[in-house]
Amino acid sequence: MATNYDAARLAGARSTGWRSALSVSTREFLNRPDLVGSAFPASRYLVDALLDPVDWSTARVVVEFGPGTGPLTRAMLRRMPADSRLVTLDVSPHFTRHLRRTIDDPRLLAITTSAASVRATLAKHELGSADLIVTGIPFSTMSPDEGAKVLDASAQVLHPNGELLAYQMRTAIAPLLAPRFDEVERSYVWRNIPPCHLYWARRPFKPAL
Ligand SMILES: C[S@@+](CC[C@H](N)C(=O)[O-])C[C@H]1O[C@@H](n2cnc3c(N)ncnc32)[C@H](O)[C@@H]1O
Repeated sequence: MATNYDAARLAGARSTGWRSALSVSTREFLNRPDLVGSAFPASRYLVDALLDPVDWSTARVVVEFGPGTGPLTRAMLRRMPADSRLVTLDVSPHFTRHLRRTIDDPRLLAITTSAASVRATLAKHELGSADLIVTGIPFSTMSPDEGAKVLDASAQVLHPNGELLAYQMRTAIAPLLAPRFDEVERSYVWRNIPPCHLYWARRPFKPAL
């Protein structure tokens, strides 16, 4: 049985060089600092701190908002089962192209669109509900209305036992998570540029449409 999919081979097979990732990331940050938040890809300390507490063996559909150059994307693919799907949504076509070029894995569906369209995107690809959503999009530079829209859509598409994982430079997401999830656990990771707040929001309350 292919547990965790010969995933090291597939997810990392054409893993991008650190320099190429940094160059795409820096260019995009200089173009749209408000949307990108940081020129530095997430550190392995942040990646492990955020992903390790989650049981990936039962994940079937995972969604990532704002994958950027894909450090979390690759790490998730290494943890996910063979028959799962990972859908990444990024507003930057440059990041989407970078992922498609550097990750050779049939489980990955990299799309250029806003996180707010997650419901329509999953429906279009007949993927049903999501087990996990992982987000690095900067809620601190979005209007509260925009942030609420993204999190309402997230709660709507998540499985009742689903979980939303977030890493954020600031805490603007916290008051948006509290009314939408039954439980929110928090932590902080110093070994990242910049250090980040981590959130695990469990059991979504479904908003009325
Ligand atoms: C902090 S960066 C993510 C960096 C990435 N995780 C990494 O470590 O390289 C934020 C990302 O969110 C994307 N983004 C910002 N707003 C978005 C939105 N509303 N929907 C989807 N992606 C968004 C940006 O294009 C950028 O790729």
